[in-house]
Amino acid sequence: MKIENLETVQPFFSFIVPGVSPGRHLSSGAVYLLYPQPVQPTAIDIRQNLSLAPFTTLRIGGPARYFSEIRSESELLEAISFARQHTLPIFVLGGGSNLLISDSGFDGLVLHIALDGPLKPFSLNGFVEYIVPAGVEWNAFVLAVCEQGISGIECLAGIPGTVGGTPVQNVGAYGQEVSETITSVRVLDLESTSFIDLPAAECGFAYRRSIFNSTHRGRYIVTAVTFRFDPARHPRLTYADLTRHFGDAQPTPLEVYEAVREIRHRKGMLIVEGESDCRSAGSFFKNPVVSRENFQHIASTLQLAPEKIPHWPADEGRIKLAAAWLLERAGFVKGYAMGNAGISSRHTLALINRGNATAADLFALRDAIQQKVKALFSIELEQEPVQLG
Ligand code: EPU
Repeated sequence: MKIENLETVQPFFSFIVPGVSPGRHLSSGAVYLLYPQPVQPTAIDIRQNLSLAPFTTLRIGGPARYFSEIRSESELLEAISFARQHTLPIFVLGGGSNLLISDSGFDGLVLHIALDGPLKPFSLNGFVEYIVPAGVEWNAFVLAVCEQGISGIECLAGIPGTVGGTPVQNVGAYGQEVSETITSVRVLDLESTSFIDLPAAECGFAYRRSIFNSTHRGRYIVTAVTFRFDPARHPRLTYADLTRHFGDAQPTPLEVYEAVREIRHRKGMLIVEGESDCRSAGSFFKNPVVSRENFQHIASTLQLAPEKIPHWPADEGRIKLAAAWLLERAGFVKGYAMGNAGISSRHTLALINRGNATAADLFALRDAIQQKVKALFSIELEQEPVQLG
C-alpha cells in the first residue's frame, strides 16, 4: 500500500471461502466464517485532498480528505482496514452519475470502485448469466448483452454510471428495472467484514429503492452483480416513447438499445462531453406518488380536468405523477436559470451545472423548487441523487 504523507498500515488478512470461487452464488444472505489468508502485497494508493468534482457527472463537489482507487476485493479490504485504523468515515463512489457532493467535500476516505473484468456470458439451466464486477461501465454491459441478441436490459441503455450502482437505486427506465434481471448482488458486509452473495429476494427492490439505499444503508459495498436472462425472450415495449418509435415492428434488443440512446439524447439524458445540458445527475426528483384526494386537489388548484394531468396508477390505489410536469406548472421550465445552476433545456427534471456552479447554487435551486411545489400542490418532492456532505 502506498500512502502519501501517512504512516504505513499494519499487514492484515483477506478472506476466502474454500471451494467457492468469487462471484458464485452462496446461499441465502448467510454470513460466512472465513479462513484468514495472507493478503498478496498490493499497491493501493491513497491520495489526499483530491477534488471530487471530476468524478461526478454534475462536475460539482469539494475535496476528499483521502481517496483510493479500488481494483480488487483485496484492495477493498485493505482500504477498509486503513479507514478503521484512522477512524475515518468511508464513502463508496461509482460512476458519480447520481451524486451531489457539497462544496466542503468529504472528511473521510472515498473508495472509487474500479473493479473490472471481462463480460463473459455462461449458460445455466437454459438461462444466460453474467457475473459483472461493480466497476464496469453500465452502458458497456448493456451493449455487450444486446450484441448477443439477449433481451432484458436494452431499455436501460445510455444510463451513466457503473454496474455496482444499479442495484442500489434499482435503476429503471422505459419500462424496465434492473431488479427484473438481477439474481444476486455480491457485497462486502462491513458488519462481519466478509463477502456474501445476497439473493435478489433479500435486496428489498422497489421503485428507486433497495436495502442498500434504505434499511441497510452504509452496511454493504457492492463488488459484483449477477444477471440472468431468458434467451427466448424478445423486447417488450410498454413505454409510449418506444412504442411510437417502433410502431408494429418487433425490434431486436440492439435496435431498442439504439432507440433508447437516441431518445435519451433528445432529452439531454445522455452524457455527451461538451453539452452543458448533460452536466446533470439525471432526474433530480423522484416522481411523487400521491393519494386520490391530493390528485383531485391539484386538478382543482390548476382548474384542469384530471385526464389533462399526466398520471399513472401506483400501489394501493394511489397515483404517480410526473415531477417534471409539476415543476413546469410551478414555473420551473426548461432552460430556467438561477445563478450558475439551472434546468436543462431538454428535460425539466434534470437540474444542471450551467458553468461554474457550486453545490450551494444547486441547493438554492433545489430548495426554491421544493418550496414552491409544496406551497402549490402540498407535495414534498424527494431528491433522487445521493447527497454527500
Ligand atoms: N414531462 C414534462 N416536461 C419534461 C419532461 C417530461 O412535463 O421536460 C412530463 C410529461 O408529462 C411526460 C412525463 O413528464 O409524459 C414523464 O417524462 P419522461 O418519460 O421523460 O420520464 P420521467 O418520469 O421524467 C423517468 C425516470 C428517468 C427515466 C425515464 C424514462 C424517475 C425519477 N425518472 O423520468 O430516470 O429515464 O422515466 O423511463 O423515475 C433517473 O432516474 O435519473 C432517470 C433519468
